[in-house]
Amino acid sequence: MVPQWMIEKKRDGGALSADEIRAFVAGYTAGTIPDYQMAALAMAIFFRGMTPDETAALTDAMMRSGDTLSFAGWPRPTADKHSTGGIGDKISLVLGPLAASAGLAVPMISGRGLGLTGGTLDKLEAIPGFNTRLSPDAFRAALSRAGCAIIGQTDRLAPADRKLYALRDVTGTVPSIPLITASILSKKLAEGAVSLVLDVKCGRGAFMRTPEQARALADSLLRVGRALGRTMAALITDMEQPLGRTAGNALEVREAVEVLRGGGPADIRSLTLALTARMCLLAGVATDAAAAERDLAAHLDDGRALAAFRDMVAAQGGDIRVADDPGAVLPTAAVMESLSASADGWVAGVDAEIIGRVVLQLGAGRRRSDDVIDPAAGVDRLVQCGDRVRRGDTLMRLQAATPDLIAAVRDAARGAVRLADAPVTRPPLILETLL
Ligand code: URA
Repeated sequence: MVPQWMIEKKRDGGALSADEIRAFVAGYTAGTIPDYQMAALAMAIFFRGMTPDETAALTDAMMRSGDTLSFAGWPRPTADKHSTGGIGDKISLVLGPLAASAGLAVPMISGRGLGLTGGTLDKLEAIPGFNTRLSPDAFRAALSRAGCAIIGQTDRLAPADRKLYALRDVTGTVPSIPLITASILSKKLAEGAVSLVLDVKCGRGAFMRTPEQARALADSLLRVGRALGRTMAALITDMEQPLGRTAGNALEVREAVEVLRGGGPADIRSLTLALTARMCLLAGVATDAAAAERDLAAHLDDGRALAAFRDMVAAQGGDIRVADDPGAVLPTAAVMESLSASADGWVAGVDAEIIGRVVLQLGAGRRRSDDVIDPAAGVDRLVQCGDRVRRGDTLMRLQAATPDLIAAVRDAARGAVRLADAPVTRPPLILETLL
């Protein structure tokens, strides 16, 4: 295989064979193919695209560039969820334990927050003692004990993606559906779950801005996941508005615990139920979506999901008091300030992108991957689209380590909330289900 011949073939619109793709990825991972040739190929893929077979071969080669886990012979069916990321998205914290309480095994490998998008690992690490860096054996032991375990990506998981993603970031080749598909699925499929539900978000707080873009990505992910032997489904969901009433790590853990205790915001509860029900259907432990959602709702209301959360926290070394009294163990910010409505009205929209920026500036997120985050910072008591507000009511509460951080975002935060003078109905959260 001569790398430049492959680059030329793709540049001219040809389709690469699985063997060519495997050899290119192996050479790039080993360092025998330099960054400049991989960058040229990525740009050729950006302009020419890839067939579904090529995308599947790229995904498979990237997945096999490192360790892959297998849970063959495991007593429970394995299933997981992947979200393309959004603001206030704490669904995994509820969904993992909820699915475990329904008899699934959820081996979840998650990411850290970067830019506007929060990361499940950062949220979990707000729980004192919670260890997201388990060895493969400890991960299996935690999964066996709790039915759900959530850890971070190791150096050995899809190393080709780690290298390629950094290269794409600086060569203008991130927004390519085949490259995004291979990047997401090479990591997600390496964790070994047989069934995978995708939450592909679209809107101002998401990577994909329009439903059409989100559908194109979802279609590609579904096709490739299935070609590689997984059972798959996808929901296209709205990310014009943040999910729930909190954004920021410890604050989102608190809200997730509320949902696990049968309360919490309706949007978090309903989306978690819909995604978890799909996992149950794919894994064969349920046959009807509506009935599965009803059963799972009972698990939230009667403490079974909370018990699974407690087991997961214990298995990963965290302080289990978080399940019963989160306020006693989670960090709290030194400075809090409520923003209040200057007039009566109805909330017509909360701009997810602005809230994402506000939360980042308050210290809860990272601009660069090596930034240190403040687990206590963020926003809570956030109004939601459709809420009735009276003059003086709280629109949101800002939390940070210093008054300066709050002063810097106050105006932007206020501008995120649009009020109308007539009642507003919140648009649907689930835009489409792709089976
Ligand atoms: N998330 C990923 O993991 N990879 C991409 O290419 C884009 C989003």
